[in-house]
Amino acid sequence: MSKKDATTNTVTITDNRTGKQIELDLLKPTCGPMTIDVTSLYKQLGYFTYDPGFMSTASCWSKITYLDGDKGVLEYRGYPIEQLAEKSTFLETCYLLLHGDLPKKDEMEKFEYDIKHHTMLHEQLLRFYSGFRRDSHPMAIMVGVVAALSAFYHDDEDIHDPQDRMNAAHRLIAKMPTIAAWSYRYAMGMPFIYPDNSLDFSENFLHMMFSTPCEKYKVDPLLAKALDIILILHADHEQNASTSTVRLAGSSQANPFAVLASGIASLWGPAHGGANEAVIRMLTEINDSGKPLSDFIDRAKDKKDRFRLMGFGHRVYKNYDPRAKIIRKICHQMLESGQCTDPKHQKLLDTAMELEKIAREDDYFVSRNLYPNVDFYSGIIFLGMGIPLNMFTVLFAVGRSVGWVAQWNEMMADPQTKIGRPRQLFTGEATREYQEFEER
Ligand code: ACO
Repeated sequence: MSKKDATTNTVTITDNRTGKQIELDLLKPTCGPMTIDVTSLYKQLGYFTYDPGFMSTASCWSKITYLDGDKGVLEYRGYPIEQLAEKSTFLETCYLLLHGDLPKKDEMEKFEYDIKHHTMLHEQLLRFYSGFRRDSHPMAIMVGVVAALSAFYHDDEDIHDPQDRMNAAHRLIAKMPTIAAWSYRYAMGMPFIYPDNSLDFSENFLHMMFSTPCEKYKVDPLLAKALDIILILHADHEQNASTSTVRLAGSSQANPFAVLASGIASLWGPAHGGANEAVIRMLTEINDSGKPLSDFIDRAKDKKDRFRLMGFGHRVYKNYDPRAKIIRKICHQMLESGQCTDPKHQKLLDTAMELEKIAREDDYFVSRNLYPNVDFYSGIIFLGMGIPLNMFTVLFAVGRSVGWVAQWNEMMADPQTKIGRPRQLFTGEATREYQEFEER
């Protein structure tokens, strides 16, 4: 749909200062709220709009992911997340996000072949790992290594060529699990395990994490399936902070791997993808403290205390995050299956459920529509898989890499794309004369 086709009506804006009236186009999306096109506002009235945090601003248009935060709806290319989690695989979902439709058999076979033949890293890239301290956070390693891919794939890539962009997408999706698993192996002082292309996507990741040269890891199909579903749930989430970072960085036509590294950096923060790690730290702190849960609820409500209930609240969901519902179920299934024998994991889940129960009856959380988000239960599943705490956000990045690259590709293909360049409401000093050093 072009901007012209989406225009259904206009909105009249009256400037009460001058009495001048202008008409702004009203754009109608396939789903979601009508959107006022303010691009000509400055030209017509000489005003900027002010919207820190993009509370009411659509930064682009997109056909990839739709979410309705009030109803708790999430759809990739029109398919509800619940159906994809139940019936699809992560790789099939990658195809869907990149190409717009579910693949037919031959398309899927070709796609799988393309991904599997990009899973290796250039041997030279291995040396980058040894430049990091052993105790580096794996997210720091991942930002560095993905950015370094730009040095390997640059001059021969034309970002204006759709096929080259698709190659970059295949490379990224294929190499992210290898980069992620090797970040962990490096920290542990263990040898890097090469990808095994006879395994499927999630099995291969577990293999690279846990095999040793002397003992092949026997991949548990239940764990591999749970991981695959978690990757599907994290695959895209429209214009979130990291995706918007990718779009902004990419709008300057920079190298795609450097652009994607900026998305990983943004994801790392505890207000975004870093929350899954923060949730486990919080639940552990609660369990270790011996204090009642109400103490932590009170702290979360206290504006003078920086403590927040991690894994609660979302900028867009003002209802239960549909991903959290699915993850909560997998979490129970995994613990009930007897896969995780560590009683600490059961205790974490018990505390999480108790916390959710208390928070959902508390007026502070109810009145602000604060529900558990995707990160609230995912960490417990990762722990049950034997994945260490500092790898949680790395796994989020593995899943989200397809969303980033699909959104970057969509932006690059859109002839209306301009370099992202927000304006500002300047509140600093007005022009003043330079003061000589002696006179200050
Ligand atoms: N604990 C306690 N209070 C909270 C929480 C929380 N987790 N989240 C929001 N609030 C309160 C705020 O203090 C604010 O209260 P006020 O209206 O009295 O000032 C109100 O709820 C609205 O919150 P905002 O911070 O304005 O909402 P925003 O949309 O800017 O923030 C965010 C969303 C960052 C996710 C926030 O809810 C948060 O920090 N949650 C904890 C971190 C987290 O779980 N992040 C993961 C997000 S999901 C993802 O990225 C995958």
